Amino acid sequence: MSAIPGRHVVVVGTQWGDEGKGKLVDWLTETATGVVRFQGGHNAGHTLVINGVKTALHLIPSGIMRDGVRCYIGNGVVLSAGKLLEEITGLEKARVEVRSRLRVSEGCPLILPFHAALDVAREVAKEKSGAAKIGTTGRGIGPAYEDKVARRALRVQDLKHPDRFERKLRELIAYYNAQLAMLHADQVDWSQVAWLKDQPLSAFVRGGSVDFEAVRQQALDHAKALLPMVADVSRELNEAHKAGGNLLFEGAQGTLLDIDHGTYPFVTSSNCVAGNAAAGSGVGPQLLSYVLGITKAYCTRVGGGPFPTELDWETPGTVGYHLSTVGAERGTTTGRARRCGWFDAALLKRSAQVNGLSGLCITKLDVLDGLKELQLCVGYLLDGERIDLLPLGADDIERCQPIYETLPGWSDSTVGVTRFDRLPQAAQSYLHRIEEVAGVPIHLVSTSPDRDHTILIQDPFQA
Ligand code: GDP
Ligand code: IMO
Ligand code: MG
Repeated sequence: MSAIPGRHVVVVGTQWGDEGKGKLVDWLTETATGVVRFQGGHNAGHTLVINGVKTALHLIPSGIMRDGVRCYIGNGVVLSAGKLLEEITGLEKARVEVRSRLRVSEGCPLILPFHAALDVAREVAKEKSGAAKIGTTGRGIGPAYEDKVARRALRVQDLKHPDRFERKLRELIAYYNAQLAMLHADQVDWSQVAWLKDQPLSAFVRGGSVDFEAVRQQALDHAKALLPMVADVSRELNEAHKAGGNLLFEGAQGTLLDIDHGTYPFVTSSNCVAGNAAAGSGVGPQLLSYVLGITKAYCTRVGGGPFPTELDWETPGTVGYHLSTVGAERGTTTGRARRCGWFDAALLKRSAQVNGLSGLCITKLDVLDGLKELQLCVGYLLDGERIDLLPLGADDIERCQPIYETLPGWSDSTVGVTRFDRLPQAAQSYLHRIEEVAGVPIHLVSTSPDRDHTILIQDPFQA
């Protein structure tokens, strides 16, 4: 008799990233056999806390901390082999077995040092000209996706054939050198770019142009370590499904950073929404049975772009400062401070719509402990008209004035609470109001960074 096919859950961020996806994916892997990344790259940063020990992940799926769980990097991910190998080495030092459990799609476009150089040179040029910066992570994500769509990308599979790789690399570098020259990259001092400490570009880009030999040599060195993990991920996932395993599809970034549905142009360069879980990994959409939207109990954003409910988060004594400090809101990837603001339920409604959310997980509820009153944004005034859904694109969002409802806060601690009925009454009411406005049920609540401090209301794998 054949096995009962598995059930597969997609986990997405519903705001601007850093909602706590990693924590929840790790927690949910207790009943999963595999975790799949399907978009983004090492711009992502997920912090897992297990028995008080922190692990930061960027490219490796957040299932790696459970023995036996397989991890897949799908074709939708833009891959820096160097960063992946660094992350593997870090985990191995902590005695986590990775290489036998990780599979990387041969269809992933490669991120090479010149992608990061162009990303940074563009941001520096914007700053010089006084134009609004995107505030990218400087990881080369945008240029790598541009190459994919322009059909000139080098892909993981090219690493199997050094001659082919070298020919394509030469052509690509000629293109990048022209781009870098236009941006006067020879005047960029890469070492001065504060958030680039961990990726020394000066070894690859000299006098503003890319050193072919340095890039080639490093990429082919990386290939030796990477190729044993390269596989037909689409095939393996379809086989895992038939064998009865439960799979988790782990989104990176968040819906408002989605290239189509986000606060364009202040977005990342991939589709972060649930629909891309299928295309970015090579499974059919009918395999995906449930979509979990991870939602912070307030809002944060790193980088530029509109943020209707943003508060002053830098002045001690303000609510914004409370969120920033109690929530430890600093980026896992670049170390930049995250901007903080009130919960935006009209934004969540947009996310619910474009992802087809089945349920919500509200994270960082404990960060609101001790606030007397909470403001919940339920709509906006745009050009004198009341609207109840976040509009599309940065220009309109910039002009939105939030409309707030005031709810009572609570003074008791919610840290570590694992049952919904043990939450203070005001916290329960706050959560119910979010469900009501967004029109999506809350199925999980997270009450601390720790893996086990999670309230389960409805198991996504059994919903
Ligand atoms: P991701 O990118 O969505 O995986 O989120 P990040 O890991 O970048 O950021 C979320 C941060 O909040 C991490 O430092 C987590 O350890 C932490 N975190 C997650 N859930 C909770 C929670 O319920 N309460 C608190 N206080 N921290 C949490
Ligand atoms: P996780 O997976 C928060 C933001 C950057 C910038 C914009 C574009 O940890 O939630 P990019 O380098 O992607 O071209 O930058 O997107 N950004 C994130 N913000 N969390 C992330 O990932 C992010 N990944 C990218 O700050 O505003
Ligand atoms: Mg993050």
